[in-house]
Amino acid sequence: MGRVCLGMILSVDGYISDRDGKLGKLYESFEPNEVIQAEMAKTGAVVMGRNTFDMSEDPDAYADDYEFQVPLFILTHHPPANHPKENENLTITFVTDGIESAVHQAKQAAKEKDVVVLGADVGQQLLKANLADDLQVAFAPIILGQGVRLFDHLEELEIRLEKLRTIETAKQVEIWYRVMKEKKTTAEQVPLNSRVPVFNYCFPINLEKNNRKTKHIIPKRITPHCKE
Ligand SMILES: NC(=O)c1ccc[n+]([C@@H]2O[C@H](COP(=O)([O-])OP(=O)(O)OC[C@H]3O[C@@H](n4cnc5c(N)ncnc54)[C@H](OP(=O)(O)O)[C@@H]3O)[C@@H](O)[C@H]2O)c1
Repeated sequence: MGRVCLGMILSVDGYISDRDGKLGKLYESFEPNEVIQAEMAKTGAVVMGRNTFDMSEDPDAYADDYEFQVPLFILTHHPPANHPKENENLTITFVTDGIESAVHQAKQAAKEKDVVVLGADVGQQLLKANLADDLQVAFAPIILGQGVRLFDHLEELEIRLEKLRTIETAKQVEIWYRVMKEKKTTAEQVPLNSRVPVFNYCFPINLEKNNRKTKHIIPKRITPHCKE
């Protein structure tokens, strides 16, 4: 069996698209070298959320020129009435019964190859379900300030990572991590109201401080036929 990898390009402050819902600023520094292309060639299936899938203006364009010509599994509550075009390598399956099912089906389709997972919402579900084997983050040299944050809504988790390797290109640094499978909620470790003891006093941490305002936006990278 291959590995399940959550992999995306991030700004240094953790956004996977900018405040206007665009990916251009992240991808202008993406220059895949032979090592990155070899990693991409290990992909046997892709799982993505419907928002990521819908960034192509024409869903039939996936069969024509998507960079991953492999089975695609799209998580959605509302499969389209007209099934998009497929070809002998790229099939499209709309999955309505959850992330576990999508990953299971993708692993079966990928056989010995890897499964790549795309989308922030879907990526967060993958981490919460403890289904990610690897995490691949490519850092673009930019601080975006706003946008869709990849590691949002994960306050209940602590996930240890083990660095596997880094890939450097002229402008980006890509880090591959193994996701350690032990999972502990912070609540299991320490009672919430006693996280920061100072002398005899306990100060509760305000978990709501994190910025939850994210915009759903349409990224550009996946195909040239994007709405950007
Ligand atoms: N930087 C990069 O490398 C990169 C690459 C790809 C994408 N992106 C970014 O990722 C963002 C998209 O991520 P996102 O978090 O907005 O959305 P997403 O994860 O792509 O898709 C979320 C949608 O998928 C469907 N869905 C998710 N979980 C489901 C479940 N368990 N059951 C059924 N349907 C489910 C829902 O759509 P429905 O219920 O409406 O069908 C949900 O609204 C875009 O902003 C894009 O820019 C970045």
